[in-house]
Amino acid sequence: MKKTILITGATSGIGKATAIALANKGHHVYATGHTDDDVEGMNLFLKENNYSIESFKLDITVEEDRKKINGLAIDVLINNAGMGESGSLTEVPMDRLIKNFETNVFGTIATSQEAFRQMISRDSGRVIIISSLAGRSPRPFLGPYSMSKYALSAAAGILRQELKYITRNIHVSVIEPGSYHTGYNQRMMAKKYEWMDPSSYFWNVTDKIKKMEAFTFKATEYRSLNSIVAKIVKAVEAKKPRLRYVAPWWEGAIVQLARIMGK
Ligand SMILES: NC(=O)c1ccc[n+]([C@@H]2O[C@H](COP(=O)([O-])OP(=O)(O)OC[C@H]3O[C@@H](n4cnc5c(N)ncnc54)[C@H](OP(=O)(O)O)[C@@H]3O)[C@@H](O)[C@H]2O)c1
Repeated sequence: MKKTILITGATSGIGKATAIALANKGHHVYATGHTDDDVEGMNLFLKENNYSIESFKLDITVEEDRKKINGLAIDVLINNAGMGESGSLTEVPMDRLIKNFETNVFGTIATSQEAFRQMISRDSGRVIIISSLAGRSPRPFLGPYSMSKYALSAAAGILRQELKYITRNIHVSVIEPGSYHTGYNQRMMAKKYEWMDPSSYFWNVTDKIKKMEAFTFKATEYRSLNSIVAKIVKAVEAKKPRLRYVAPWWEGAIVQLARIMGK
């Protein structure tokens, strides 16, 4: 059955690739963007490539933007928008930690509430949250981001259990991607050097941190987004969507094993 789907942060990376995959399958897709510039670039891209996808600005931290969901009768909300702050939790400026939570956690929940309002009144719909495997295994020097994704993975499980008290027709799933090369991880890792200076507790070990990060992402980042997009499409189309979808499977298996071992 063809669905009406709204994706946040969908003018780049995983969100954009998902929008295209879903539109190619005949779904009606709103690929919303963070800023007017993002949307302008996206609309140009959509026109040039003849995609029948609609794009408009939806900053998930702005109430007025979130209200745009009203009246669109969306069947599926995909909460993909996100940002990442890095640096040690011993010293990361609190305003950065708060901003990370305002976007990833509070923005996502507030946007979902907007969608739930209409889904609950219609008694049908589905909300998908893009979390991260960093939301199930603690990542050093990615604390603000990793913590925010822990909160989102928890939120999906909580929402799913709560909704079962009132309906069997509204589903919540969480997607936990491993590492994909969209530029997101590189931007996030670089963020801490905007404020770290010689007074940082970690100033003398920045080379060590950079080597560890370069090694981690070089070893794990996938260039193709196909595996993660396929999981999101599955969560959209499955008759009985699961709570959790992970890709690539082996990164998920390592995280699972680490948890069993109490790491
Ligand atoms: N790439 C990975 O390895 C990876 C792994 C695990 C999870 N994820 C998650 O996957 C999602 C997509 O990431 P990606 O890798 O595709 O990177 P991306 O291309 O940077 O996608 C993130 C999108 O979110 C948008 N955004 C940020 N703040 C927003 C806000 N307040 N309102 C609306 N949109 C906002 C960004 O727009 P601007 O660029 O204009 O800010 C961007 O378009 C994120 O939630 C990320 O945490 C990614």
